[in-house]
Amino acid sequence: MVLERLKRYIYLVMGWEMPIINHDRYILEQKIIPYFVAHEEFAKVLFVGCAHYTKHYEKWFTKKEYWTIELNPMKKIYGAKNHIVGSLSDLKLHFPDNVFDLIICNGVFGWGLNEREEVEKAFGGCFDCLRQGGVLIIGWNDMPESKPFPLETCESLSQFQPYFFPPLSTSQYVNLEDKTDQHVYNFYVKPVSNPEPEFGSLLTPHS
Ligand SMILES: C[S@@+](CC[C@H](N)C(=O)[O-])C[C@H]1O[C@@H](n2cnc3c(N)ncnc32)[C@H](O)[C@@H]1O
Repeated sequence: MVLERLKRYIYLVMGWEMPIINHDRYILEQKIIPYFVAHEEFAKVLFVGCAHYTKHYEKWFTKKEYWTIELNPMKKIYGAKNHIVGSLSDLKLHFPDNVFDLIICNGVFGWGLNEREEVEKAFGGCFDCLRQGGVLIIGWNDMPESKPFPLETCESLSQFQPYFFPPLSTSQYVNLEDKTDQHVYNFYVKPVSNPEPEFGSLLTPHS
């Protein structure tokens, strides 16, 4: 443990990357992130929860406005230049509505974000802070010991529509390659509401 901490410290100081190599990370780092980096309409991005193995993500988003939020103040060192120390449940304390194009929340539901009330507030805040057409991605482990409650019972998520993610041809990717953690990525989009009809168009034309 001490050696591991020392290694992380040295890597951090040297600016070396500390990636995790597994199938979940492959999907996140080689399929999900590159797709959104390549699409200009996803310009303002929030990544939730920081770790030594996510520090280097910021460099992939240099052409975007990239934010991180993390509950643990000690992990600020792994956050972006634009970093919030705080809970995703309090997102609305930090940002107005309709500002983000993309929110990636991987490994947080079931990893600290556990209480139903907090989860509802967190994903409700994501809904409000995303613009219409903005995308929320939730990565979580579909294992009884890892999920606080079934994600599909989360009411705040019912405001979203499923987002069909082209590179994986689905709105819910289940990792079947590695059954040890049953990692799942869910893709949601904030629906675009129909514009209000103009007053004149509601009047019936005279015959
Ligand atoms: C397993 S790590 C996941 C890190 C990263 N998001 C990833 O892709 O692996 C979980 C992190 O989420 C943070 N976390 C837990 N609850 C949170 C909350 N309510 N708001 C923000 N961060 C939270 C924890 O402090 C921890 O650093």
